[in-house]
Amino acid sequence: MILIIDFGSQYNQLIARRVREHRVYCQIEPPNISPAAIKALNPDGIILSGGPASIYEKNSPKTDPAIFDLGIPVLGICYGMHFMMAALGGAVHSAGKREYGFAELEVKKQIGLFEGVNPKSTCWMSHGDSIGKLPAGFKISASTANTKIAAAVHAKKKLYAVQYHPEVAHTQMGTKMLRNFLFGVCDCKPSWTMKSFAKDASEEIRQTVGNKKIILGLSGGVDSSVTAMLIHNSIGKKLTCIFVDNGLLRKNEAKKLKVTLKRHLDINIRFVNASAQFLKALARVTDPEKKRKIIGRIFMQVFEAEARKINGAEFLAQGTLYPDVIESVSAFGGPTSVIKSHHNVGGLPKKMKLKLIEPLKYLFKDEVRLLGKELKLPQELIWRQPFPGPGLAIRIIGEITSRRLAVLRNVDDLLLEEIKNAGYYKKLWQSFAVLLPIKSVGVMGDQRTYENIVALRAVTSKDAMTADWARLPQKLLGRISNRIINEVKGVNRVVYDISSKPPSTIEW
Ligand code: XMP
Repeated sequence: MILIIDFGSQYNQLIARRVREHRVYCQIEPPNISPAAIKALNPDGIILSGGPASIYEKNSPKTDPAIFDLGIPVLGICYGMHFMMAALGGAVHSAGKREYGFAELEVKKQIGLFEGVNPKSTCWMSHGDSIGKLPAGFKISASTANTKIAAAVHAKKKLYAVQYHPEVAHTQMGTKMLRNFLFGVCDCKPSWTMKSFAKDASEEIRQTVGNKKIILGLSGGVDSSVTAMLIHNSIGKKLTCIFVDNGLLRKNEAKKLKVTLKRHLDINIRFVNASAQFLKALARVTDPEKKRKIIGRIFMQVFEAEARKINGAEFLAQGTLYPDVIESVSAFGGPTSVIKSHHNVGGLPKKMKLKLIEPLKYLFKDEVRLLGKELKLPQELIWRQPFPGPGLAIRIIGEITSRRLAVLRNVDDLLLEEIKNAGYYKKLWQSFAVLLPIKSVGVMGDQRTYENIVALRAVTSKDAMTADWARLPQKLLGRISNRIINEVKGVNRVVYDISSKPPSTIEW
């Protein structure tokens, strides 16, 4: 495995992705990890990430320099390079001007990191500091016009440092350099697959849980379904899942999910229909954050009441993913847990004294999908677009009534049918409709109408941190709009949301 020390770079997840794409397992840890803890992890190599700080700032993040004496190869990237140089006796100074963008990288010798790398290629720079003096034993291994020490090496100690970012796609030969580090320098084996992950994770769950019971909140989304399948394969009927119908799901969703889950996942599931309870608590509430809080609170009550019926449950499983974990261990402290309260059943474990099990906490979303495939989860569950916990409540702007829910359900159903038929469902991160609390004038037949507006939202994204509005074909948008206005009573106008995230968000 490769250990990545997080100095707060915006590219950290990208470094992890790049390593895993080579089928090498990696873990991101904060700079305060001790050399003893590193030894216990037994990594084949360490990557020091970039970061926004300057090494000479008072509170700039630092890790124990003893890591350079562990005999483990280290690659320092940007700030990681500065840290390595400063720690080993070199000098870092302000470059005077920030260098940002493309630069031509000239490699001295095609060895080590640069084995098989073109003598000249473009690289991506983003730094304000540069190396002024190398520590003893280091040599320059690559330069650019503005940055003489663009890469440096201490071959004997297997210490490598680069000023540019090999992990971003703009660095032409970046992938090759990372591959050289992983396989040439660190001698990693490309053996990390979802098959091996599933095997190890199952074994760990078995050991942790013993003959106790686990409960899991199942939403039918890919994360909780994969978690359920993994745990079920590991400990079978000792797992009980609870599915809460909050009355805010898509058209016939609870029914359809029930059939799918029962057919494909031969597991204990308790279905609880708590629609009335949720809708009553949401009556006349218009503020979206208030809606979220109410839904979170009722969910907790319903879930807890159901969970109490399961005798001997000691563990609570959650489908937490790696991006949530990474953010919470950021170099700059960050909030202790940034997982949105509505994303999980936070608070519950403390109250019920359940121990938490999060078997997917080292995986990215696309890896979870691969794992789902490995576990033979049906396609319709693996490829479901994410759906927010508070469901349609946050897609109805303003008051939630059963009538408005019914209108939105019909619009949403029709939208998804068209998106699926046109082959766009898998290509989009999410596609959905939002019901606006505004009416506008229209004409149908010879009649004047005064009805609702719906907004359609379709976005592409890798991880929901950023997103772009999807350039759906005009013909498709036209057909969807026509069908909605003709077939859904209560709607006479359709608009398409063309905002990206940031500055907008995906949900309204
Ligand atoms: P935003 O709207 O923040 O959404 O750009 C990012 C991702 O999170 C989902 N989302 C939610 N999920 N409860 C959830 O469980 C929520 O309150 C919530 N708000 C947004 C959203 O669907 C997108 O995938």
